[in-house]
Amino acid sequence: MVTAEDPTGLGRELRRRYTAADLGVLTHDELSRFAPAGDADPQADVPLAWELLYRLEPELYDRLVSAERLHPGVLGWLPRDADRIVEVGAGAGRLTLELIGRGREVVAIEPAAPLRQILIRKLAEAEHGDRARVVHGFFDDLPVASGCADLVVACSAFTPAAGHGGEAGLSEMERACRPGGCVAIIWPNHLKWLAAHGYTYVSFAGPMAAEFASRQEAAELARIFYPRAAAEVRRLSQRRVSYEVLGINPPRDLAFKMVTR
Ligand SMILES: C[S@@+](CC[C@H](N)C(=O)[O-])C[C@H]1O[C@@H](n2cnc3c(N)ncnc32)[C@H](O)[C@@H]1O
Repeated sequence: MVTAEDPTGLGRELRRRYTAADLGVLTHDELSRFAPAGDADPQADVPLAWELLYRLEPELYDRLVSAERLHPGVLGWLPRDADRIVEVGAGAGRLTLELIGRGREVVAIEPAAPLRQILIRKLAEAEHGDRARVVHGFFDDLPVASGCADLVVACSAFTPAAGHGGEAGLSEMERACRPGGCVAIIWPNHLKWLAAHGYTYVSFAGPMAAEFASRQEAAELARIFYPRAAAEVRRLSQRRVSYEVLGINPPRDLAFKMVTR
């Protein structure tokens, strides 16, 4: 079955993993954003199934994003001399670890407690524990002062949906940014919506592949996260799998706005 929330069928296996009984893992604040109607069903709602993944199987999620590395052009585009950087929806730190050293302070905001724990562990392992502050928060209510950051960034986290950013979330990101600073949405998926809000699109060329830890890992993760490509990934039996085979836009782009206020 392909639902309205899953037009590509990419979330098919993820939706099967969880049921409404799993919603108990969400806090009141999380439920109000991710399941506001009160009768939400992760078997019919892909974004909600992802939220359950972050909380119930955070290590599985981290195995996926460890394979989906950002294009070097995206990392090269980011400023290197910021005072403070605020990242929203930091997750397990795919971007956060790259931000260390680019600012005097990095504030990593992440609502899912299990992902914050993974991020804190990774920062400590990299001996960067004192260079980033990992805090709880949501796009629409950022726990930072107005104009506090040179760069406010989200990677594979912001969408126009109210629970995952929306108008209120974009306003909050721009509020947190100092005049002359920049708000950047990395790996954006609603380009027209962002363009209508004054964001400029940048994409970096070149072939890109997901780099799984092993051939077995590629097959296992494709079965769950890229079900339509799973048979081809098994047939290829390789650790590196091109995004063309996986059937998604690679993490090679961003949309940004210089804040002038
Ligand atoms: C696909 S993950 C990306 C994580 C990380 N930025 C990365 O690139 O690996 C989406 C992230 O957005 C976070 N998120 C979802 N809704 C959010 C909200 N309303 N406010 C802040 N973060 C949110 C999730 O908890 C999750 O960590």
